[in-house]
This record gives sequence, structure tokens and C-alpha cells, in this order.
Amino acid sequence: MATDSSSTAPRLNVVIMAAGKGTRMKSARPKVLHRLGGRALLGHVLDRAVQLSADQAIVVTGHGADQVEAAVQALALPGLQSVFARQEPQLGTGHAVQQALPHLQEGGVTLVLSGDVPLTEAATLKTLLAACAGTRLALLTLDMADPTGYGRIVRQGDEVRAIVEHKDASDEQRKMTEIYSGIMAVPTNLLRGWLARLDNRNAQQEYYLTDVVKLAVADGVAVVAHRIADAAQVAGVNSPVQLAELERVYQGRRALALMEQGVRLADPARFDVRGELVCGPDVEIDVGCVFEGRVELGAGVRIGAHCVVANARIAAGAVIHPFTHIDGEALGVEVGEGALIGPFARLRPGAQLAAEVHIGNFVEVKNSTLARGAKANHLAYLGDATVGERVNYGAGSITANYDGANKHRTVIEADVHVGSNCVLVAPITLGAGGTVGGGSTITKDTPPGALSVARGKQLSVANWQRPVKKK
Ligand code: UD1
Ligand code: CA
Repeated sequence: MATDSSSTAPRLNVVIMAAGKGTRMKSARPKVLHRLGGRALLGHVLDRAVQLSADQAIVVTGHGADQVEAAVQALALPGLQSVFARQEPQLGTGHAVQQALPHLQEGGVTLVLSGDVPLTEAATLKTLLAACAGTRLALLTLDMADPTGYGRIVRQGDEVRAIVEHKDASDEQRKMTEIYSGIMAVPTNLLRGWLARLDNRNAQQEYYLTDVVKLAVADGVAVVAHRIADAAQVAGVNSPVQLAELERVYQGRRALALMEQGVRLADPARFDVRGELVCGPDVEIDVGCVFEGRVELGAGVRIGAHCVVANARIAAGAVIHPFTHIDGEALGVEVGEGALIGPFARLRPGAQLAAEVHIGNFVEVKNSTLARGAKANHLAYLGDATVGERVNYGAGSITANYDGANKHRTVIEADVHVGSNCVLVAPITLGAGGTVGGGSTITKDTPPGALSVARGKQLSVANWQRPVKKK
């Protein structure tokens, strides 16, 4: 989508460093593929490139490169062109960006991000790019009470002169609290020249990207710092503890955005969204709920405590009682207006429930359509079924939809009443308005309006003597 600003802004290449090992995660999974809000860390960083309408993203991979590259290819990144540059071995952040050089387009600006820093906001990066303005070296910086381990911003007066890594810093420099976030915006042609001049004569014998600052100063190129106060935006993930901390920050922000829109969350600290949650007015969500994939909640929907809802559309006024599990996966689940679901209900892919449907406790519905007002209130299974209006489906009844090789459909026409503990052996059709006696195993179609019973006839033996225990 070409907007006015993107056609006048300098060309933007985003380099994402993602070659590091992430030893402290103590995991076989590459660090940047660990999930935050249900999406890989690297996915969040690539989302920023999408939001900035970057001309290209270059992902620098190394540890677990095959896995990382496959995962990126599977991500939805609308409109973003992305390429990979391998960095083997990993000789530092400057060396990482050197690997991206052959892919960088001429001119414009390069924005350097890290694949393990997921919460930087697009607005912050836009301000950084504006500070760079295609001509300056712009650094994102932050004041930290405990700056141990970070690169320090060394100033002379107000002017930024260098970044000194913690391990190379003097005692005096270590007292400085302004740190480099790891994020910079650089005019691409200047970056090329500076990267060619990096060396590894430092405490870690690494090629430091941060050394471009002193090269810029030597070349008389202006260096500007955009200092922010929000530490979460530049926080990296190095351990499971840090991942969990950032997860809470992320969820807190999602919760806040929903509440500002009018959604009533019983407790924003006990709420998790791992995907896209779209809410109408007057939605209420009780504690402990998890939303995954794309979920839409219509006006006035209420979600009880401890529900998991994934890939579903729930229409206005529906109530989902506590402990309900809904997952539409690829097929989706639809819940109609004013429907009542749960507690302890399970809606699986292809469950399509019309208005005023009631699904009660321990009822499972899969790939089935229920018309307006149909009810299955207790302990039942409906799979591959088409259920008419106002049908009442008794406790303990099931559709036997699978013959061991193929699935078959069950059609229950309008106003049928299925008693308790029935087995409906598909393929089968129950005619409109019919009644099926409790305990029946139905293997043949039933005529409309009829009572159908298929079970042993009741027999009573008079004066029956019960066996007695032998002495
Ligand atoms: C870097 C900065 C430091 C800054 C800090 C912020 C340098 C030299 N130092 O520290 O000033 O305060 O970030 O977090 O840049 N990576 C590669 N290949 C490599 C090395 C790193 O892809 O050879 C990736 C890592 O996977 C990570 C990112 O680059 O995603 C940053 O690396 P990390 O080791 O965390 O940064 P530091 O060098 O400690
Ligand atoms: Ca580090």
C-alpha cells in the first residue's frame, strides 16, 4: 500500500540480528522462535518491519538457521519482502550486519533490530527514523538504574561521541547510566563504509556494530540519541524468566487496549490473548481466559471464568459459561446470537450454532450445524450432524459418525426429540417432529412424527428370588 509518506520517505531496509545462540534459554529451540503472545519473538520484530512499510527485511541467521528460516517463511507478513543472510561463525553484532550488506539496497536508511527484542513500538522506531532523516546516525537509548552489561553512551557535553561496551569501559564510564538499546538507524551508504573499517581489538575480540559511532564522529557525521523511558520496549529475552516477564508486559498492554475500547476484564492480570481478539461493545470477560488465533466477540457477549476460545466467532448476546473449550482450528466455530454454551462444553472445528442454541455441560460438538433453538444440555456428542430448529437432544446420546474407515452424516430434522442414551448410527435421518425413545440404538431412518424405539422390550418376572450367598 503506497501512502504519501512512504513514497517520500527514504528507502528503508531492516536488518534483524538473529544468529545468537541463546544459551540461557536452556532449550533446543532457537531463542528467537520462543513464543510471546503465541507468536515467535522474531515474528514480533518482523511485524515492526511490516508496520514501517519497510522495503525489505534481512534476517541474519546462524544458530538453528534452517529452523529459523523455515519458521519465518511460515509467518504471515503482509507486503514484506524478506531475505536471509547466514552468519557462521558469530563474531559479533558488527560482523552480523556485515553479512547483510550484500542484500542491502543502495541509498536510503538501514534500521538495525534484534530478533530477541519483541516489544519495541512502531511509533518509537518512526521517531528514530525521523531523527536519522537519511543523513544522521540515530541511536535508541535509555537510562537504566543498573546499566551493568550494556554499552554506555559516551557524551562530550551534549554530543554523543562513542558507545563503549561494558567489558571495555573504564570505572568512570561504567557509572554512566545512559545505555545503547541495540537499535539504530543509519544511512545505508555510510553504514557500508563504516562496517568495512570495523576491527575486533576489544575485550571480547568481537566486531562491534557499536563502533560505527566513533567512525561517524571521525567522519563528521552527526550522531543523535533518541532517549526513551520505557524499558520494556528495548528489553531482550535471554532466559525463561525474562520471557515470562515480557509476556506479562505484552498481555498487560493488550488488556489495557481492550479496556480502553470498553471491554470489561474482571482482572487484566489474569487474561491472555495469543492472536487477534475483536470485541463489540459491552463485552465482559471473567478471569483466567485464553484467546487464540482470531476470535470475534459480538456486542454484550459474556465469557465466564477459565474459558479457552480459539478461532471462533461468537455473536451478540451469547454467553459462554466457565470452563468451556472452543477451538475452530482451520474450519472455525460459529456461535449464534443469544446462544448459551457450557459450563464445561467443548466446541470443535466446524461447529456452527445458530441463535438461541443451548449446549450444556460435557457436550461435544464437531463439524455440525445446529439450527435456531436446538438444545443439547448434558453429556452428549454431536459429530457430522445437521440438527434442525428446536431439536432437543437428550443426555448421553451420541452420533456414531465413524464406522472405523469413513465418517457419515446424521440429519435430525426440526422438532425431533431424542431421548437419553441414544446411539444414532450414521448415515441416518430422523424425520421432522419424531421422537426417539431413550436407550435406543437407531440404525434406520425414522419417519416424521413417529415414536421410534429400538431396544429390548421390558420384561418383569413376578416374585423373583434373588440368589443367596453359599455358606
Ligand atoms: C549489544 C550492544 C550493546 C547494547 C546491547 C543491548 C554491541 C557490540 N553491543 O550488546 O551496546 O547495550 O546490545 O542489548 O552491539 N547477534 C548476532 N550475531 C552475533 C552477535 C549477536 O546475530 O555475532 C545477535 C544476538 O542474537 C542478539 C543481538 O545480536 O539478538 C544482540 O546481541 P547480544 O550479544 O545480546 O548483544 P551484546 O553484544 O551483548
Ligand atoms: Ca547481550
